[in-house]
Amino acid sequence: MKRAAVLGHPIGHSLSPKLHGYWLNKLAIDGSYEAIDTSPEFLGERLTQLMDQGYQGVNLTVPLKEHVITLLDETSSQAQHIGAVNTVIFKHGKLYGDNTDAYGFIENLRSGVKDLSPYLSHAVVLGAGGAARAIIAGLLAEGVVQITLLNRTREKAEILAKMHPSIHVKNWENRSEALSQASLVVNTTSLGMKNQPALELSLEFLPKTALVTDIVYNPLETALLKQANERGNSTVDGLGMLIYQAVPAFEAFFGMKPTMDEKIRMGLL
Ligand code: ATR
Repeated sequence: MKRAAVLGHPIGHSLSPKLHGYWLNKLAIDGSYEAIDTSPEFLGERLTQLMDQGYQGVNLTVPLKEHVITLLDETSSQAQHIGAVNTVIFKHGKLYGDNTDAYGFIENLRSGVKDLSPYLSHAVVLGAGGAARAIIAGLLAEGVVQITLLNRTREKAEILAKMHPSIHVKNWENRSEALSQASLVVNTTSLGMKNQPALELSLEFLPKTALVTDIVYNPLETALLKQANERGNSTVDGLGMLIYQAVPAFEAFFGMKPTMDEKIRMGLL
């Protein structure tokens, strides 16, 4: 039996066991995927323990994604670029780290629009946390021409902007005006999530041709997406990013590529 797990602290909220469990069942694979609470100080020990027990690998969530890097034998260029690892594969006694969040973000966009290229001229990204870093890495890998980055704490946006010369920082207060040339708008903040403050953003200056996406998926149609839909902009919700980022990890752990279906989306919701 092939085994894998997600590690984090706390870990009770993780949807990964449901997602991987659904695919294991659907593809009739003899495997298991569990959540194991692991705090940063015991991460090294935990990885060795699971590798010794014959696990294929693990996914990592908060707060282990950055912490793990010093423990790895090899790290993919994408994970190095992002500065975080969400998937560790155990191979011949060695630890290989990768980050599939950028892939998940881009695949989710691709699932929603026929052709991504018209939307890659000018992306406006709200937020400068870990999710923003992965999303920007994904956009850069796809050849985005220009990125405008806005974050409540401007210094964090400026640090992130060092990733690439095409990233320009603007003040958070000017976020509505910053949309006037946008072809793509991405909310990477937690604003608009259930029990979080609203994202106050007027779309009055946004071209109708722009695509709007949100990493918040609870609610599935956030106030941002609702506003965009109502004025005729195309939108992509955030649930697919969660699902698509798990695809390469599942394939590495269990040897088969799972496919997306509406049932898994509904199940997770
Ligand atoms: P993640 O790794 O999921 O991106 P994070 O690193 O905590 O999480 O980042 C959360 C993002 O939401 C940040 O950009 C944060 O802005 P700050 O860097 O200024 O903290 C943003 N955010 C959270 N609450 C916010 C609020 N009330 N107003 C504006 N931005 C907010």
